[in-house]
This record gives sequence, structure tokens and C-alpha cells, in this order.
Amino acid sequence: MCGIVGYIGEREAADVLINGLTRLEYRGYDSAGVAIVNGSLEVRKKKGKVKTLSNDLAGNVLRGKLGIGHTRWATHGPPNDINAHPHTASDGSFALVHNGIIENYTSLKERLTNQGYTFSTQTDTEVLVRLIEDVRNSTGLSLGKAIRQALSQVQGTYGIAVVSNDDPDMLIAARKGSPLILGIGDGEYFLGSDAAPIIEYTRKVVYLNDGELIIVRRSGFTVYTVDNIALDKAIHELEWDLEQIEKGGYDHFMLKEIMEQPASIQNAMRGRLFKKAPYVVLGGLFDVIDKLKDADRIIICACGTSWHAALVGEYMIEALARIPVEVEYASEFRYRNPILRKNAAVLVISQSGETADTLAAVKEAQSQGIPVYGICNTVGSTIARETDAGVYLHAGPEIGVASTKAFTAQVTVLAQLALMLSNRRNVLTDKELKNYTKHLLAIPGQIQQVLDGAESILKIAEIYRYANNFLYLGRGPNFPVALEGALKLKEISYVHAEGYPAAEMKHGPIALIDRFMPVVFIAMNDSSYDKVVSNIEEVVARDGNVIAVTDAPVGHLDTLCQHVIRIPTTTELFTPLLSVIPMQLISYYIAVLRGCHVDQPRNLAKSVTVE
Ligand code: M6R
Repeated sequence: MCGIVGYIGEREAADVLINGLTRLEYRGYDSAGVAIVNGSLEVRKKKGKVKTLSNDLAGNVLRGKLGIGHTRWATHGPPNDINAHPHTASDGSFALVHNGIIENYTSLKERLTNQGYTFSTQTDTEVLVRLIEDVRNSTGLSLGKAIRQALSQVQGTYGIAVVSNDDPDMLIAARKGSPLILGIGDGEYFLGSDAAPIIEYTRKVVYLNDGELIIVRRSGFTVYTVDNIALDKAIHELEWDLEQIEKGGYDHFMLKEIMEQPASIQNAMRGRLFKKAPYVVLGGLFDVIDKLKDADRIIICACGTSWHAALVGEYMIEALARIPVEVEYASEFRYRNPILRKNAAVLVISQSGETADTLAAVKEAQSQGIPVYGICNTVGSTIARETDAGVYLHAGPEIGVASTKAFTAQVTVLAQLALMLSNRRNVLTDKELKNYTKHLLAIPGQIQQVLDGAESILKIAEIYRYANNFLYLGRGPNFPVALEGALKLKEISYVHAEGYPAAEMKHGPIALIDRFMPVVFIAMNDSSYDKVVSNIEEVVARDGNVIAVTDAPVGHLDTLCQHVIRIPTTTELFTPLLSVIPMQLISYYIAVLRGCHVDQPRNLAKSVTVE
């Protein structure tokens, strides 16, 4: 949701900014812009991708060693040149980029308009710029102090970066609800919404917290609280490396990330899952596992794909550890005044660790005195830092907007959590635990087998590339996989798709079936197999086209269905880790065949940092 970069040092700022914006583009790609200080303050901004901006800059170079940049995911005002960031002061003295939403911008704008300020854009951000000007004009405060005072009048969320023509040795940034990281180089500093634009220059970073404002000069930086108290900030080391955030020869990040899954799942289990007792040790939850095991209810909050992983987790934790689990959309949780009893525990799942709705759920639970545990991929992310304890996925950076390897890593961590809780609660016998562990350890190799068959999935995608609607059906732990398959297709192919529990089909969706409707069934050879096969028969009887994903031996399904995608067999609860792979590949290939922009689908952004 909008990417911010900033640079101060001795390099050409434009190079660092364009490079950084390109790496951050997955956060938003409606427009991009930069402001560079070099005697004067020059702003260049363009509707469209970063490439459009960089082409423009190539023809008309901007020189300067201090600057800020922005890639936008539009909230207020359509994507066009004028609404693109940076936004500048009326006298052109400073420029500001913003990620987040100024919720009280209407009342502020009205007040400022009455005072005589004029606005040329439809953005909430320009209101913040005018507000800073107003504070400066009325108080004569320095820019840093005026920013702090203006921000105290703002409701909503922000990550901002500001440069000024009056001070060519100063970069200012502040955050509330929208992440910002400062990369520390040798006499130079790099600002980023996340680590992607920083990693190739330095691994030393400082994470800004909500309410903090930073003033960066070439000689050093100071972080202040809202009350203007200087803070001593810890310097952290970034885990990820440059190679991980590059495509590595693949056409798209999404394909790279799909193909990485044998390794990313291995990483999510490394040092945690053992062939012998105690079988699972999730270090990040070790100190709180007794509290978690005694919870009378675990509520899992998440959004999108992470919510689907949570649903799989519900099946696994209830079956293996016998603790009641509820899965909530994080976006709904805080607004329905949730009843959280003393013995409840809240678990949040987020790849980015920055999703505003999920963060709001964390705060809601904590405000009721309930411990919140996190499952996050991004090390040092806000949710990872705000939760009481948690586990990292170690899946490596996920850049493709459509989440793939994060989903399988989340399910892998949830499977391990279920086993760890089961062990602590003595639900499973040692033999059963050993068996589940054996199955989980085999998953990476089995995923590789599914990936090796990608060519046959491409052929199926070629057949259905023009279909306008898809239905995805599965039962038990594969019902969330049906939802995930439908979400993947919608997101990147813009094809309407719905996921349902297979048995629900007869309660409505069956009316949609005709010869134009491809129906993807997850028909695993498990406790629900016969029932799912009956549902397939019902679709076939109505001329629907069935694509079945199964581990059943060659036989009835092959005569019944148009297409059968075979995947290896594992224990029922872990089948989502295998059955989701064909879902990812079908949507990827259909998107490519339809000419869609796979890694940057329209209207979406990778991390949704606004409510
Ligand atoms: O970073 P998070 O896991 O919190 O993100 C949650 C959703 O925004 C995310 O899963 C989204 O649905 C993806 N685009 C799905 O592919």
C-alpha cells in the first residue's frame, strides 16, 4: 500500500530512488514520483508504473544527493500525474510523500480553505502538506517541529518522508500505522517502507515505531517521540539478501515463489520438527505454550490468503490438539465488540506483518488483556513486534502480490503448532505423533513432485483460459483450499471464481452449472472421498467440466472427469499443502495466457496498510 523511499548521502539520489521504487513497486503501482534537492527542489511524477517515471528521468536527468520517492496505491483521488506524490508546499520549499490515510482530511481541508489555502489535488496528503505550512506560518517553528505539531492534529495513519530546499542536509520521516525503516550506510542513509529498497546497500537498520519522528543528516540521525524526547534506538541486522528479492531467471515473482515452496517449507520446519520426541519445538512460542495449551478457545484473525491458512489451522488444531478454534476476518473482529474470556488466546497470521486490519485485531485483543501470538513472515514487521510472542515463517521475501509460498509456510507452521499443542495436551500417542511428523517432513519432496507436473497443468489452463467463471469445491481441510484457489484466480486473472464446501453446492451454486462452467474439485482419497465423487457426478450430469485434483488411484475419476491432476498422498489434515499447488499453477498460467500482469494485478497492492 504505497511505497516510500528516501536517500541522503553522496550518491546520485535519483538512481537510489528509482532503484528503490522499482523494488517497492509491489506495494502500489498507480503512479510514481520523486523529489530531489540540489539548490532547488525538483519534483517529477507520473501516472503509471515506475518505468514511466524512470524513462522520463532518463531523458531529463535530475541531479542531487538528497531525495524522496513514492509509488502510489490510490486511496483519495484517481491515479493521475497531479495526484501522484510527492506533494509540495505552496511556496515549493518542501516536498512530502505519504503512505496511509488522513481520516480527518475533510474537516482539515475545510478549515484550511477558509484560511485561504488552495488545493490542486484530490488527495488527503496535500491537506497534510498545507497543514504543515499553516503551522509553520503561524508559529515560525522549524520544519521538523512544524511537522510534529501538524501530525498531532491528524487522525488516521501515516508513514511520511519530507525533504526541504531550505536544508539540503536533512531528511525527515515519521510514522503512525505505516511502516518505515532506516538503513544505515557509511555517511549515507536509506529510508524505505520495507527492507526491499535498502538491502542492496546495507543490512544495518532501525525500525521506526508508531509516534516516532526521525531527522536524518549525513553525520547521523536522531529519533524523537511525539513529545520531542530523543530516543536511543536499537540497530538491527536484516536477514534477507538481494538474491531473494530478485526474479532469479523466472518470468514472474509469483512463479519463482511457487517453485520455491519445497525450500520455503523446509525452512519453516528447520530446527523445529524432529523425527523423535518432542517432535516439535517452536522456539518463539516455547515460553507461552502452556498458556496456549490451556486456552479454552483460540481465535485466529487474519485477512485474505492468511485467513485461508487460518481456516486450515482450525481443522488441524481442533483435530490434533482438541482446542476449540474460531477463525475471524481481522477486518471484522474489532468492529463487533468481540467477547474474549480470560482464558482465550488470539493468534494472528500475516505474511507482511503490516496489514492494518490484522494489526487492529492485535490491538483490540490486547486492550481486553488477552495475549496475542503472531505468525509472520517479515522479520521486524509491526505485527511481529507488537504481538506478545510468535513464530516467523522463514519463507523468505514474498514479492508477488498473489500470496503463494507464504500460504504453505503458514499452514506448515500451523501444523507444527497443532502437533506441539497436541503433545503438551497428551492428545495423540507417541506413535501417532511420530507418524504425523513423518508425513510433514515428507511434504517438501511431495510438493516437488507436483511442481514437476506443472506442464500438464499448463495444458489444462490453455483449455480454460477463456472461461468467465470458475467454481472451486473441496471438503474438510480442503474447503479453505477451494477458497484459496478461487481467490488466486480472481486476483491475477480477473476471472470470476467462487469457492465452496463441496456439499454446499446443492444448496445454490449448482444452479450455475452448465457446459461453460469449469469446476475444480479437490477430491482427496480420504474420509470425504465418496461424497465428493457424488458431487462430481452431479456436476457431470449437468454438463459441467470437471478438473479433479486427487491422490486416488487411476480409475473411476479418470472416466468421470475431463481432467485429473494427480498429487501424492499424505495424511488427510496435511493434504492442503499439496492440493493448493495445482490451484496456484492454474491461476498463474491462466493469468499469463490472458496477458494479465501477474505480479502487479490491477487495483491490488502487496501489503494492505490502510483499513
Ligand atoms: O500480509 P498479510 O498476510 O497480512 O496479507 C493479507 C492479505 O492482504 C493477502 O493475503 C492478500 O489476500 C493476498 N493478495 C492474497 O494473495
